[in-house]
Amino acid sequence: MKMKERPAKPKGKLGVLTPGMGAVATTFFAGVESIRRGHAEPYGSLTQMGTIRLGKRTENRIPAIKDFVPLAELDDMVFGGWDIFEDNVYEAAINAGVLHRESLDRIKPFLEGISPMKAVFDQKYVKKLSGTWVKKGKTWYDKAEELKDDIEQFKKREGCDRIVMIWCASTEIFMKQSDVHRDLASFEKGLKENSPEIAPSMVYAYAALSLGVPFANGAPNLTIDIPALTELARKNNVPVAGKDFKTGQTLMKTILAPGLKARLLGLNGWFSTNILGNRDGEVLDDPESFKTKEESKLSVLEHILQPKLYPSLYSDFYHKVRINYYPPRGDNKEGWDNIDIFGWLGYPMQIKIDFLCRDSILAAPIVLDLALFLDLASRIGFHGIQEWLSFYFKSPMHAPELYPEHDLFIQLMKLKNTLRFIQGEDLITHLGQEYYD
Ligand SMILES: NC(=O)c1ccc[n+]([C@@H]2O[C@H](COP(=O)([O-])OP(=O)(O)OC[C@H]3O[C@@H](n4cnc5c(N)ncnc54)[C@H](O)[C@@H]3O)[C@@H](O)[C@H]2O)c1
Repeated sequence: MKMKERPAKPKGKLGVLTPGMGAVATTFFAGVESIRRGHAEPYGSLTQMGTIRLGKRTENRIPAIKDFVPLAELDDMVFGGWDIFEDNVYEAAINAGVLHRESLDRIKPFLEGISPMKAVFDQKYVKKLSGTWVKKGKTWYDKAEELKDDIEQFKKREGCDRIVMIWCASTEIFMKQSDVHRDLASFEKGLKENSPEIAPSMVYAYAALSLGVPFANGAPNLTIDIPALTELARKNNVPVAGKDFKTGQTLMKTILAPGLKARLLGLNGWFSTNILGNRDGEVLDDPESFKTKEESKLSVLEHILQPKLYPSLYSDFYHKVRINYYPPRGDNKEGWDNIDIFGWLGYPMQIKIDFLCRDSILAAPIVLDLALFLDLASRIGFHGIQEWLSFYFKSPMHAPELYPEHDLFIQLMKLKNTLRFIQGEDLITHLGQEYYD
């Protein structure tokens, strides 16, 4: 299976707009600028450091991904976004406390040059925050129009050829699909009637998709997981991806759980707890925002371990996830996992993980890769849910009739095979019989 035509190298600037300019977004902006100036290496980014094997192992063709697929160059990226606080990106990055002041000072004029546009916000959806830098439009619909105007203005001002939008704002309260989300017509009616079933993140996504701007959801909010917005994405030929960046403890889970299953080691329980002290931690201290996150984190093991297929190994395990807001730690989270497993003849064993991780350091390269891959997807006419980008998410979006693929290694294989497909190379099956014939 191959694409008819190979995509061309893009020309012009790629604008990356983030609703939310907090820890993740500012670490991403500052990181790309530091890398462009040669101050740092793009560690953690598959688009910048990853390679891809092509053809047979004997052919020795292993180009860098960025030389293989025609992605936008870092030098051609420009940044903007929205926040409920007026701080420019330098001030916001200092507040976030992720990057050292010295590294921020080296690129201070660049960071000060990016200021947030006024946000679409309502405290009802993020209980722990209140800000004044917000749009005043009467209805969701008016605010969506304002966002569209912001995007057009940004595009003109920065001379962008293309735009992508990546949600890096706070986690909203837990919401379920309802009638307003059923189809585009009901959703647009809801926008005009200011329906409480519509959250700010949906208004951003609606504005983006209406203008043909690809959208990725970095938080666990419902946002684009509703038929109305997938309908709009299909109608306007726009790619979407989500949701909830896969970092920290869940990243570890999706690395370890496939290994346990591969060796048929059983699981009695998996207890995960965290302490973190950034604004994200504070927002998640609210039970309604935590519920959104919890749902996203809990589903992972169930899908990887497939208890229906392996009832004696995985039908009865206890899974608990806790997040504790603890200000002294700032963005430097500590996550503990206690994993009770069993092996041959049912003998129990334990695994302990103590991950002293930096959330935004893990998330920033994901934002970069998503921006570049979504732009590629859009240029080659991929539209709707981009399941090949599941690699980056805790709760991968998927077609209604499918179960989501959570196993990091299957996700990576899927991503790389999609790149081979795009560039007209043979897909790799890992069969390898031919080497022994
Ligand atoms: N850091 C990670 O590893 C990671 C992993 C997965 C998901 N996430 C999610 O990414 C998001 C960002 O994380 P963060 O650590 O940067 O959080 P943060 O609190 O530092 O930044 C979020 C920013 O969004 C702003 N905001 C809130 N609602 C907004 C709205 N409606 N419009 C515009 N701005 C709005 C807030 O003012 C804040 O500045 C969170 O939802 C978080 O759960 C982060």
